[in-house]
Amino acid sequence: MTQAPVSDALNPDSALIQQAAKRLLDGGLVAFPTETVYGLGADAENPAAIAGIYAAKGRPSSHPIIVHVAPGANLDHWAATVPAQAQKLINAFWPGPLTLILKRAPGIPADVAGGQDTIGLRCPSHPVAQALLTAFAALKPGGQAGVAAPSANKFGHVSPTQAAHVRAEFPELSDDQLLILQGGASNVGIESTILDLSRIDQGVGPVLLRPGHITQDQIANVLGEPVRKPDAQAPRVSGSLKAHYAPRTPVQLVDRSDLPALVSKLARELKLVVLAFDPNTYNAPGVDTMACSIEPMVYARELYALLRYLDGRGYQRILIERPPQNTAWQAINDRLGRAAAAFE
Ligand code: TXA
Ligand code: MG
Repeated sequence: MTQAPVSDALNPDSALIQQAAKRLLDGGLVAFPTETVYGLGADAENPAAIAGIYAAKGRPSSHPIIVHVAPGANLDHWAATVPAQAQKLINAFWPGPLTLILKRAPGIPADVAGGQDTIGLRCPSHPVAQALLTAFAALKPGGQAGVAAPSANKFGHVSPTQAAHVRAEFPELSDDQLLILQGGASNVGIESTILDLSRIDQGVGPVLLRPGHITQDQIANVLGEPVRKPDAQAPRVSGSLKAHYAPRTPVQLVDRSDLPALVSKLARELKLVVLAFDPNTYNAPGVDTMACSIEPMVYARELYALLRYLDGRGYQRILIERPPQNTAWQAINDRLGRAAAAFE
């Protein structure tokens, strides 16, 4: 395995960024770091390149892909209208882990939107992502470019938060087929918050499609209006499938009060690992325990790397103590719930 040489993970190597931007222009795939998770990128306006993403991920082509843009990009290139609410949120949270769903501009191919009439837009804050997006836009006639990128994992699997995770996820792709940029471990660690603003002109206020690091309350504060739950007409989001974000080892979420009894019962039949806030409470012979952070931001940052690590250790089940049920833990509870649902 060859790894792209980057001397300092957060300071992009300009020759490598140029090579990656050229790769995108030629219709190829480039995996890149963002502050949330690593993305599997391709030119958002090149349907053949988009098809390459769907093929590599094994993702159904009806599932739309987020378009990543450089700071200062002209959003009118991508969106039919940019409502005032979008502008307020952009001013407050971009660059950063917030994806906005807007009505798609007529000139943008439907492929990236899985055939929907919307477009998902996000400006990431990671310096390597920004360098790539800026370099790619500079190569494009007209100077506007976007990189379509879902998380760089096989469909339904845990998102990657390190370059090595991406490499492990696509062993079938050579470096010529997938250029992987390194950028250290993703700081946020879980996928962006997704907010639908595509039906504002029909009187439907902001809808939270996927919780994330930027919370519903923060968004409501900036907008001065409540954020709603998705209804039947809301755009489809694949990360909102009941089962998603799952490791290969079965995951079970357990209330703290049920853990001791369940651990002793299951330990007779299965090789278990328990992730708990205070693992000393659940010591049982032959059961490995790991402490998880009581800080939601740290928990989120570490979660996916930990699940990947545990996947390789021969456990038959991962028991996870259910985190508190409050807004600070909403995004984590969402991801843990979907990971566990894959095995129900
Ligand atoms: O943090 C993130 O969002 C990461 C990094 C790479 O930016 N990306 C990511 O992409 O998580 P993905 O494809 O794994 O999840 C993106 C979600 C999907 O559930 C998709 O359905 C939704 O965004 N989405 C993208 N474009 C959309 C659109 N036009 N309308 C509705 N949903 C959209
Ligand atoms: Mg994903």
